[in-house]
Amino acid sequence: MEEIIRFGVSIEKNVLNKFDEMIKKENYPTRSKAIGDLIRESLIKREWLKGGEVTGAITLVYNHHRRELVDKLTDIQHDYHNIVISTLHIHLDYDNCLEIIAVKGNAKDIVKLSNLLKSTKGIKHSSMIVTTTGKEV
Ligand code: NI
Repeated sequence: MEEIIRFGVSIEKNVLNKFDEMIKKENYPTRSKAIGDLIRESLIKREWLKGGEVTGAITLVYNHHRRELVDKLTDIQHDYHNIVISTLHIHLDYDNCLEIIAVKGNAKDIVKLSNLLKSTKGIKHSSMIVTTTGKEV
């Protein structure tokens, strides 16, 4: 079994109050579990940014009436076809589309793809969800 270490943390009172409120809403049983999750998440993110094989999802929200934008997004995804596993397209309303792009591959390539998509003119919002392939965690 993994050895458990106790350690003290100094932090502003109002930050800790907000943190306690947040973890209560998220049903964390203890502060230790919540802090442990935050640390693990941070380690996974750094692991991601170092490179190696990882998985994740890129989300895009945009107006599909901008045809040149749709073409550009398709071109970019074809340029990175080796890391795009699947794309889910949802017609949110008359104008707006949500695209969820599942990716797997080298972390640096995924970050590059995400940045290219995000910076495309006309994208209303883009986010990247990073996770592990599960082999190292
Ligand atoms: Ni659509």
